[in-house]
Amino acid sequence: MNIISDANNEKKSIFLGTVLNSYYDQIITKKLSIIFDKEDIQLINAHYKNPVSISINFLDKELNNKIKLRLAGKKDVFDKLFPKKGSTILDCTAGYGRDSYILRSMGYDITMIENSPVMSLLLNSALKKLELSNFSMYHGNSYDYLKHSENHYEYIYIDFMFDKLKGSSLSSKNDETLKLISFQDSNKNNLIKLAIKKSKGRVIVKEPKHSLSNILKPDYIIKTKLLNFNVYRGVYEKI
Ligand SMILES: C[S@@+](CC[C@H](N)C(=O)[O-])C[C@H]1O[C@@H](n2cnc3c(N)ncnc32)[C@H](O)[C@@H]1O
Repeated sequence: MNIISDANNEKKSIFLGTVLNSYYDQIITKKLSIIFDKEDIQLINAHYKNPVSISINFLDKELNNKIKLRLAGKKDVFDKLFPKKGSTILDCTAGYGRDSYILRSMGYDITMIENSPVMSLLLNSALKKLELSNFSMYHGNSYDYLKHSENHYEYIYIDFMFDKLKGSSLSSKNDETLKLISFQDSNKNNLIKLAIKKSKGRVIVKEPKHSLSNILKPDYIIKTKLLNFNVYRGVYEKI
């Protein structure tokens, strides 16, 4: 992975280059670059004819207008999934933080976990600019976090990486890039089972409608046109 930086970030970028190149396969990283420029971090994916530049910006006007519009409409699926307003949510698979940012905008108290070092960098830099309370992240594996943390949550949310489905449209370039730099969970059910023990309310696992994954049978499913939200009742208070 190429790391390009201004003078302010030089030390950080040398360290990061060593770490990242030990994480990722060279074939994957050959066309990926991270650019540090003062407070901004961008990921460039040159696997495409027109390279794509990716960064996370929660201050983006268009993004915030879209969220406003979504929340002004009829009852949102997130209202159904997370009925206790203002409660705590642990997002075990933060990614670009899109779902979490919507939930934060709806007033929930959000903690995110992300295990990809590149995604964590982008997300962390976006959070620093936002300075929003009750919206934080940790870098690491959420299974380890749940196992060792004393915290418990009303809701635990999991959005594993979708495998491409037969007949489905192509993912966006951002999601394709995310696939290159993220790590797949080898045992999804272990994470779900542990999350059930640490949640007071519900564990919610997002999947595409026609997913072929073999995840634990949910207590029930809340459906939208394209997605299934698998819901498991949390048992934290019972143990
Ligand atoms: C499909 S993306 C999530 C997208 C996210 N919901 C959003 O709105 O942007 C899945 C993300 O979870 C991360 N991930 C997968 N398993 C994880 C785990 N066990 N612990 C922490 N992060 C994980 C991946 O690196 C990837 O960035």
